[in-house]
Amino acid sequence: AVSLKGRHFLKLEDFTKEELIQILDTADFIKMRHKIGIREEMLKGKTLAMIFEKSSTRTRVSFEVGMAQLGGEALHLSSRDIQIGRGETIADTSRVLSRYVDGIMIRTYGQEIVEEMAKYSDVPVINALTDEFHPCQIMADFQTMREKFHKLEGLKIAYIGDAANVANSLLIGSSIMGIDISLACPKGYQPTDEILATANKFAKKSGAKIVITDNIEEAVKGSDALYTDIWVSMGKEEEMKKRFEDLKDYQINSKVLGMAKENAIVMHCLPAHRGEEITDEVLEGAQSVVFDEAENRLHAQKAIMALIMG
Ligand code: CP
Ligand code: NVA
Repeated sequence: AVSLKGRHFLKLEDFTKEELIQILDTADFIKMRHKIGIREEMLKGKTLAMIFEKSSTRTRVSFEVGMAQLGGEALHLSSRDIQIGRGETIADTSRVLSRYVDGIMIRTYGQEIVEEMAKYSDVPVINALTDEFHPCQIMADFQTMREKFHKLEGLKIAYIGDAANVANSLLIGSSIMGIDISLACPKGYQPTDEILATANKFAKKSGAKIVITDNIEEAVKGSDALYTDIWVSMGKEEEMKKRFEDLKDYQINSKVLGMAKENAIVMHCLPAHRGEEITDEVLEGAQSVVFDEAENRLHAQKAIMALIMG
């Protein structure tokens, strides 16, 4: 295996299939050791700065607990409290934090902000969600899919709803790994040409089949996993009314689940809005793996941190 030490984790397309598999294998290993009570010291004495410009439950807790479980510590920095909120530049913040800590995790708006942070940082920077991407989420999701199906290649995912950050990373991650992926999104909520071009480039190599449609049945037919995300992402609150109108038919419910393979799993990054993008019945149903995904955020991110910061 190649060393990932010192690498930033900003978007999945920066990593090869082999490197992503290495992260997933490490996540499985770390999870197994955690379950049998082994205490890790991989990041002993190391500190992670965590900058949040948006809300978070899973990401905040899993990174903070993950650092503690690897023997290190994490600092929670809300952008309201640090000088970024008063206009200090990302470049200056990055150079200052690099002198104190061993890694920087950031949840923010534009992808260019995390790229800027990484450009000026001497320590690894981790993207904990931008408007464009959510790569840590997808590593946890792939770990979950491997646990359920014992493989990734050749599976088919159907994503339904708004192609935002989670869908973009799912699309690109799938195209790298060789997972077929169909996205059913209304016009105006489909992936951009740029994202699609990137995905198609990887799909050519991996053999993944990509379909973008506004037809749910076409996307869901033959799928092993259904995936959705909220209709109103953080930062899009002003568009709420229009989004509810435009996306109202793009819901995972029992009828849609019935179009997938019999043993299909139901996935959601959470938080979920029951009765909107997914029904309570399906979210709570036997095929739902949403809490396994949430748990695996911890293990997958511990693997990422151990590999890049260790
Ligand atoms: N899925 C996810 O990133 O959740 P949080 O917004 O709670 O971190
Ligand atoms: N698309 C959602 C994901 C939340 C984890 C958002 O950006 O709010």
